Amino acid sequence: MSPSPTFPISSPVHGSGPSRSQFTYRHLNLLASYSTSSPLRVVAHIDLDAFYAQCEMVRLGTAEDQPLAVQQWNGLIAVNYPAREFGIGRHCTVADAKKLCPQLISQHVATWKEGDEKWAYHDDAASHIETHKVSLDPYRLESRKIFSLIKDSLPPNLQRVEKASIDEVFLDLSAQVHSILLQRFPDLASPPPYDDPTENLPAPPITALDWKADALVDLNDADAEADDPDWDDVAILIGSEIVRDIRAEIRRTLRYTCSAGVASNKMLSKLGSGHKKPNQQTVIRNRAVHHFLSDMKFTKIRNLGGKLGDQVVSTFNTESVRELLLVPVEQMKLKLGDDTGFWLYNTIRGIDSSEVNSRTQIKSMLSAKSFRPSINDSDQAIKWLRIFTADIFSRLVEEGVLENRRRPKTINLHHRHDSQTRSRSSTIPQGKILDEPTLFNLAKTLLKQIMSDGKVWPCANLSLSVGGFEDGVSGNMGIGAFLLRGDEARSSNLTPKEDSADSSACEPPGKKRRVDNLSIQRFFPKRETCLRREGEVEERDTRGEEQQQRDDTRGDPGSDSQVRRAPITDHQCPRCSTEFENAEALQNHLDWHMAKDLQDEERGKTTFANLSAVPRDQKRAPASSSKKQSRGGTRKLEHGQSKLKFG
Ligand code: CTP
Ligand code: CA
Ligand code: CA
Repeated sequence: MSPSPTFPISSPVHGSGPSRSQFTYRHLNLLASYSTSSPLRVVAHIDLDAFYAQCEMVRLGTAEDQPLAVQQWNGLIAVNYPAREFGIGRHCTVADAKKLCPQLISQHVATWKEGDEKWAYHDDAASHIETHKVSLDPYRLESRKIFSLIKDSLPPNLQRVEKASIDEVFLDLSAQVHSILLQRFPDLASPPPYDDPTENLPAPPITALDWKADALVDLNDADAEADDPDWDDVAILIGSEIVRDIRAEIRRTLRYTCSAGVASNKMLSKLGSGHKKPNQQTVIRNRAVHHFLSDMKFTKIRNLGGKLGDQVVSTFNTESVRELLLVPVEQMKLKLGDDTGFWLYNTIRGIDSSEVNSRTQIKSMLSAKSFRPSINDSDQAIKWLRIFTADIFSRLVEEGVLENRRRPKTINLHHRHDSQTRSRSSTIPQGKILDEPTLFNLAKTLLKQIMSDGKVWPCANLSLSVGGFEDGVSGNMGIGAFLLRGDEARSSNLTPKEDSADSSACEPPGKKRRVDNLSIQRFFPKRETCLRREGEVEERDTRGEEQQQRDDTRGDPGSDSQVRRAPITDHQCPRCSTEFENAEALQNHLDWHMAKDLQDEERGKTTFANLSAVPRDQKRAPASSSKKQSRGGTRKLEHGQSKLKFG
């Protein structure tokens, strides 16, 4: 096939170029196997524009240019682009935003109302913070649709998609790009000269690439642009075509716009998607990386926005990548420790060999509420437990708990009274379909255990979480087989699927890297623990990951009279009292505790007793007995689904 229709010459490029590529046959082969060491690798990051706001626009059918923001109590949590033009941002109060733009639609998020069995959109939610709890279900459902569409638009055997948060995904396009390269340039499929894979490839038979409307990151050096494209440019161009098609399909079928970055790794692609918003895609070719990063503040890079970033700024007295590039690796290691220093040295040079992990899945779910005023008795607490369990259960349904695709192993309840926090946890009986009443009963049992400890009222915060997710029975066994199998199913359920077909996708990074990661984890409050296999915990970067729970205190002014700008600092870990800047960071930290507990439990430790910061009354509760479970009602529709009016 001639390459010319695919790569029309968009601009004349001088020079005949080298006859050989700088890349080898081996590099090309590595592309087919998603190897992170292939310099031809293509990774994309797609992020929805003003996501919650777009969900509301689609649901309400508002005009594209209508300013709209999503309100939570009296604050804003998402602002669409038309509203941003009025200077409205997430940190505005509703009142301030309306002053800036009187025609603003300010849609309150859906809430669970105390006593209700489902979330709904309540017109009066903003003034009922004490009896309502925010639900992000509508956005999760839309997120799922988008995620499915993305997966469906990729070839089933050549896809690696990682859902990185409620509104973003990473795609490793390497294998698909490899296959397209071979179709378009059949010569590439010929064996290397002398059968030597270290031989260089022939140069691409093209001198200019057509990037369509993509935002190409500039090169600082005009000569670099004059160099003919090499295979890494062609690979990224193909990746960019794939991403453009996906974005068009999302727009066409679901009506959402999104932005994307296409580059050679996760870090760069994520920077790319945020580079030009909304509704654009940015390509960062390898030859542009240096220029792209040098102009940047390193605090914009994944993992460098938080504590580690602060430490690097104070250590080297600069926020600029350009200046940090002058620091030798030895000095970075000396100042930050070997692992972190080395990691930083690579990162600011655009080197990131982290894998796109298509097995990434939710590891825990938390539903919580801070009470203002505090609640005073068990009846009130139980009403909230009902909401928490309904909330968590609806998310479990999405995770496939009814089909036993995935199910949690533990349930935890945290309770705060004055400065004292108590928590109890128990295992969730396995071997039966998990239903909402079971969860509710377990939660009530945990509450009773906490109440038997002494003075527990008034209570300022309750949070319920489930964790230790495991893959259920898969394949053709289905639900019926599971129901019949009882204990047998339980043991099968707990068996790691080491040799299953997709286990390679779940392959943990090499031991060395795991150690590296762990050693720098202290800097990353936004890390989530990823339980891969029984007894194994992997630390994983989750900056920007899905907020599995929105603590209702976040962005919550508490009362109308309060000025909204003051950040709420009510994000203390009930387990170890560490303060976090927001609910998301706290949630990730709690996930870490949960996974750590499980890991320790599997090692036979009694972790709660070992945690010095945990009050002495927080012993691990015994596993609650497996109660007879009613299966009635478990096969109903996903919660609230029927109430949704998404177009
Ligand atoms: N979100 C939130 N609180 C935060 C960060 C994000 O509630 N601290 C929600 C937002 O409401 C948002 C969604 O998570 O709609 C995705 O966040 P993000 O991608 O950071 O922002 P967007 O609103 O999607 O805006 P952008 O177009 O800049 O991506
Ligand atoms: Ca977004
Ligand atoms: Ca995002």
